[in-house]
Amino acid sequence: MAILVTGGAGYIGTHTCVELLEAGYDIIVVDNFANSSPEALNRVKEITGKSFRFYQLDVRDRSALEAVFARNQIDAAIHFAGLKAVGESVRSPLWYYEMNMISTLALCEVMSKYGVHKLVFSSSATVYGASGDMPVSENSPIGASSPYGRTKQMIEQILQDLAASNPEWGISILRYFNPAGAHKSGRIGENPSGTPNNLMPYLSQVAAGRLEELSIYGSDYPTPDGTGIRDYIHVVDLALGHIRALGRILDSSGLNIYNLGTGRGSSVLEMIAAFEKATGTHVPYRFAARRPGDIAVSCADIRKARQELGWTADRCIEEMCEDTWRWQANNPEGYDIHENRFMTALLKM
Ligand code: NAD
Ligand code: UFG
Repeated sequence: MAILVTGGAGYIGTHTCVELLEAGYDIIVVDNFANSSPEALNRVKEITGKSFRFYQLDVRDRSALEAVFARNQIDAAIHFAGLKAVGESVRSPLWYYEMNMISTLALCEVMSKYGVHKLVFSSSATVYGASGDMPVSENSPIGASSPYGRTKQMIEQILQDLAASNPEWGISILRYFNPAGAHKSGRIGENPSGTPNNLMPYLSQVAAGRLEELSIYGSDYPTPDGTGIRDYIHVVDLALGHIRALGRILDSSGLNIYNLGTGRGSSVLEMIAAFEKATGTHVPYRFAARRPGDIAVSCADIRKARQELGWTADRCIEEMCEDTWRWQANNPEGYDIHENRFMTALLKM
């Protein structure tokens, strides 16, 4: 079986490529390195000892994508390629709609043309917005609160229409909760540009002494210790969830949505304590105002993925912290992707 992986050089993409190769799949990776580095793919080869085909292209470029389908026998696609920064999407909504929507439309059109009807799509817990009831199940009301989240919500709708139009389609929409951690080898991990927005990369850069202190956004939430609660999921568990979802669509048709989380929430203070304990580091912090748009608690109802995919996330937050730290300590500058980002910034001008 040969699987096309779009955005395969990114954080979740690299971890999924490793698990796909180790499960015996052939992979064909496409990425434009808008937020990643060729070095990440070298490391996937190094970890697995396996090689694979790679094409540097923008998924919005239909003719380049068609050439990949024309040259390769492809059985299914996993679509990670997209932009994911909530704040940036508020500042540049058109850029987010262009990048996330057009790339998905192009991919689905080319897949249809080449008779490939099996797709796993990266969605997000952010589509739930502030629904209030926790944990959230796949049937909870959706209502994303940022342009980024709305791209995911709209793509989900498009995929539902597509699946309804032709019974050959088998589509899995995976709503990720909060991915964290890194591969055990310490060779691949999350590689944010500039100052991180998300808790785990920020926390690890404070522990490494690259940033002075962590600001905890809000100490007065209606949670046991007043700080925000999230469902952190180890990126390797997440990657394995893709393998299960893929296995299911290869055998069946129709569209299914799955939450991928652990079902357990941890507060910011709990994450700091777990990180300090797992790594023997110290993380200075101070309390700051709530971050606009944040909700108090986000936690997944994971029963559907367990029942239908036979999948659960087994790795605990201590393991996420240890693995994040190994990656951070071994790669203080990440993959050094400044040149690619400079090129992307130029392209946007
Ligand atoms: P990432 O930025 O590390 O990876 C995305 C990859 O896609 C990058 O390698 C980037 O260069 C590539 N890419 C972007 N636009 C492209 C295009 N038009 N053509 C070709 N390549 C393109 O992000 P990630 O954390 O690995 O996220 C993967 C997917 O999961 C994204 O769709 C994201 O929205 C979704 N997701 C991520 C999180 C998270 O917290 N990391 C949570 C929920 C959902
Ligand atoms: N937090 C801090 N300080 C920081 C960063 C975060 O206190 O410097 C807190 C937040 O207030 C929140 C928690 O840590 O309570 C987690 O915040 P993250 O930014 O790590 O994650 P979010 O839950 O806000 O959002 C992330 C992604 C979204 C995605 C969502 C669900 O940014 O794109 O997870 O998958 F949709």
